[in-house]
Amino acid sequence: MVQNLKHYTIESTLGTGGMGIVYLARDTKLQRLVAIKLLKPELVSDPNRKSRFLREARAAAALTHPAIAQVYDIDEVDGTTFIVMEYIDGRTIGRLIRDGELDLIGAVEIACQVAEGLAKAHDSGIIHRDIKSDNIMVTKDGHAKLLDFGLAKLLEADTDMDTAAADPADLTRTRTQDRTQTMPGAVMGTITYMSPEQARGQELSPASDIFSFGIVLYEMVAGERPFKGDTPLDTMHSIAFEEPKPVTLVKKNIPPQLHRIITRCLRKRREDRYPNAHALADDLKGVKQELESGTRTRLPAGTRLLGWIEWLKTSFPYGPKGVAILVAALIVSAVFLLTKLQWGNMIGPAVAFFFIYRALRNKRQRMLKAFVKKVSALPEVRAIVIKDDTVTVALDKAPAKTYIRITSLIDEINEKRFIGKQVMPVIRDDLSEAEFRNLLKTAGVTYARDE
Ligand SMILES: Nc1ncnc2c1ncn2[C@@H]1O[C@H](COP(=O)(O)OP(=O)(O)OP(=O)(O)O)[C@@H](O)[C@H]1O
Ligand SMILES: [Mg+2]
Repeated sequence: MVQNLKHYTIESTLGTGGMGIVYLARDTKLQRLVAIKLLKPELVSDPNRKSRFLREARAAAALTHPAIAQVYDIDEVDGTTFIVMEYIDGRTIGRLIRDGELDLIGAVEIACQVAEGLAKAHDSGIIHRDIKSDNIMVTKDGHAKLLDFGLAKLLEADTDMDTAAADPADLTRTRTQDRTQTMPGAVMGTITYMSPEQARGQELSPASDIFSFGIVLYEMVAGERPFKGDTPLDTMHSIAFEEPKPVTLVKKNIPPQLHRIITRCLRKRREDRYPNAHALADDLKGVKQELESGTRTRLPAGTRLLGWIEWLKTSFPYGPKGVAILVAALIVSAVFLLTKLQWGNMIGPAVAFFFIYRALRNKRQRMLKAFVKKVSALPEVRAIVIKDDTVTVALDKAPAKTYIRITSLIDEINEKRFIGKQVMPVIRDDLSEAEFRNLLKTAGVTYARDE
């Protein structure tokens, strides 16, 4: 194994993929950990292909977004090209699915983040080309990171092969075939996530990424892939012509809205898919909010009104009582106004002002209370301590879905308007018994599991 590449010292192997080996390394100049992908020499032997790839890689390196793993550098030593990128301390979505560690809310939360990352890339004119569950990682604190932006360009044949082949019989002589011949192992995995136009060897567009994203989303929520075949050609046929089984039939309790989102990503004709990843992210956010508040919007206006009243009850000071007091105050001031009592003109606005002030002042407290209620229901949570702006959650173990859940609930609080500072989550699954006992002695313990 190589030990050093320029000023990078290899520490261990992170994994192997179709394009080469990925190492964990230390950047000795900046003193930080990085991931280094050593490209197989045959990928960059053709100078044209290499220069096209370098152009794409430079564009990808210019992308910065919290949901995109940053490319730091591309370099060469003794004819070996390597890519230096952000090291992601976490697991791929593929791994999380196999480990059964994604629940519905976790999957939708990750999907929202990924869709936003994609939207950013597409806005900058960059197509990922290889969206799949192994190219998305989730960090220990629940943040999604898209890997390998634009790298799939390396696996593509020359552009003069770009002739369209609409007939499935022609699948055999397209760019896809070229990929299958040159890298059978790599493409087997990737074929599963191909868009119909990709399977036909047509030119790719942002809509192709949206299709592949739809496959990942399907897989995350259903636990299985939408298009399956015994051979690569069968899979491609299924992608090009078959309708996948609705996720709502594969698994119970999937909101119909999520089924609609997936279906819209997986339309065969690209013009029938989401016009862009922003629209997709917006729809996913809607589902996320519904899942988190426990409501569903296929519901008609009447039911939505009930949901709204429910929201009013929970987000108002003193809950339903508060609503009643406000309504009473409004009625009293209306009476004053109607009977033309002079000070009646003042009382309405004053009461309203008081309530708005109270609502904003107490909102953070109420949201934290709701947070404690939700999080303390998770069996692995041992204690929750809220001190000033820091919320510490002590856990027995921390499966990814719990991390995602907790950080996304905190993010949600911080997105709301309230009087006070933003809330900082601290998630600990590594406390010793002594540390845990000390934690319980501090002020601000709002929940402790009976042990
Ligand atoms: N930036 C990174 N930080 C941490 N681990 C990484 C990083 N990039 C890749 N890995 C790990 O290395 C493994 C192999 O990655 P690689 O991209 O080579 O393969 P792949 O995604 O399965 O296939 P492809 O070559 O089509 O991208 C990944 O599954 C992941 O576990
Ligand atoms: Mg990869």
